[in-house]
Amino acid sequence: MINKPRLEGKVALITGGASGIGEASARLFLEHGARVVIADVQDELGHKVVTSCNSPNISYVHCDVREEGEVAHAVAQTLAEYGGLDVLFSNAGVMGPMTSLLEMDLEAFDTTMAINVRGVAATIKHAARAMVARKVCGSIICTASVAAFLGGAAPHGYTVSKHAMLGLMKTACNELGAHGIRVNCVSPFGVATPMSCKAYGLEPSQVEAGCCEKANLKGVVLKPSHVAEAALFLASDDSAYVSGQSLGVDGGFSVVSHSYTVVN
Ligand SMILES: NC(=O)c1ccc[n+]([C@@H]2O[C@H](COP(=O)([O-])OP(=O)(O)OC[C@H]3O[C@@H](n4cnc5c(N)ncnc54)[C@H](O)[C@@H]3O)[C@@H](O)[C@H]2O)c1
Repeated sequence: MINKPRLEGKVALITGGASGIGEASARLFLEHGARVVIADVQDELGHKVVTSCNSPNISYVHCDVREEGEVAHAVAQTLAEYGGLDVLFSNAGVMGPMTSLLEMDLEAFDTTMAINVRGVAATIKHAARAMVARKVCGSIICTASVAAFLGGAAPHGYTVSKHAMLGLMKTACNELGAHGIRVNCVSPFGVATPMSCKAYGLEPSQVEAGCCEKANLKGVVLKPSHVAEAALFLASDDSAYVSGQSLGVDGGFSVVSHSYTVVN
C-alpha cells in the first residue's frame, strides 16, 4: 500500500513496457496512481503484463517505435483511452551485436540507431505535440545508459546511440521548456534484463554477478526496480524544476576512473 501516491491523476505512456525496466516502471507508476499505457512490439508479453496487473488503469498498445505512424497511434490510443498524456517514458531500446569495430555490421548499427535514437525522437515528437496542444506541463524521460558517457562499456552502435540520446534530450529540453514540459534521462549501469542477458548470452544471475564485479558501488545488486524508482521521481512533481538532466542510476560508475586510481 502506497502512503503518498506520486502520480495520482497522471497518464503515462511507456515504450518498451512489456519487459525489464519498462515493465517494472509500468507496475510502479500504476501503484502510484497513474493510468498507464505500455507500448511494445512483444504483444503477447505486453498483454500478459496488463492481465497480471488486474486493473482497468493499465493497457497495452502495439507500437514499433521505428514506425512513426505506430508511434502516433500509440499516443492517440493513450489520449482516447485515458483522456490525456502527462508522462512519456521513452524507454524501448536494443543493444545490438557485441562485435569489434573492425567487424562492425552496419545494418545492425542502423537498426540500433533507428530504435534507440530515431524511435525516441518520434515518441518525443508525438507525445510533445499532444502535451503542447493540451497545455500539459508534462514530463518526458528517456532511458540512456552509462554508455551515454563512456566508451567501451557497451557495443559501438549502442554507445553512439546513447550519446545521441543525450543530445536529443538537451535539444528537446530547450524547445519544450517554453511549454512547461520537462525532459530528462535515466542512465543505468548494467541490469539483468532480457536485453542484457541476450546480448551477453548469459543467465540473469551471471549478468548480475558480472555487473557486481565491475560495479563501483558494492553491496547493492542493480535491479529494474531501482531504475523505475528514478523514473518515478522524474515523472512526478517531486522533480518539478528538474529538466535537461541525466540521472545516473549507476552507483557512481560513470564518474570514477576505472584504469587509474591514486588512492587504494
Ligand atoms: N539492461 C541494462 O543493462 C541497461 C542498462 C542501461 C540502459 N538500458 C536501457 O534500458 C532500456 C530498456 O531495456 P531493458 O534492459 O529493460 O531490456 P528489455 O529487453 O527487458 O526491454 C526492452 C523492451 O523494448 C522493446 N523494444 C525493442 N525494440 C522495440 C521497438 N522497435 N519498438 C518498441 N519496443 C521495442 C522490447 O520488446 C522490450 O520489451 C533500453 O533503452 C536499454 O538500452 C538497459
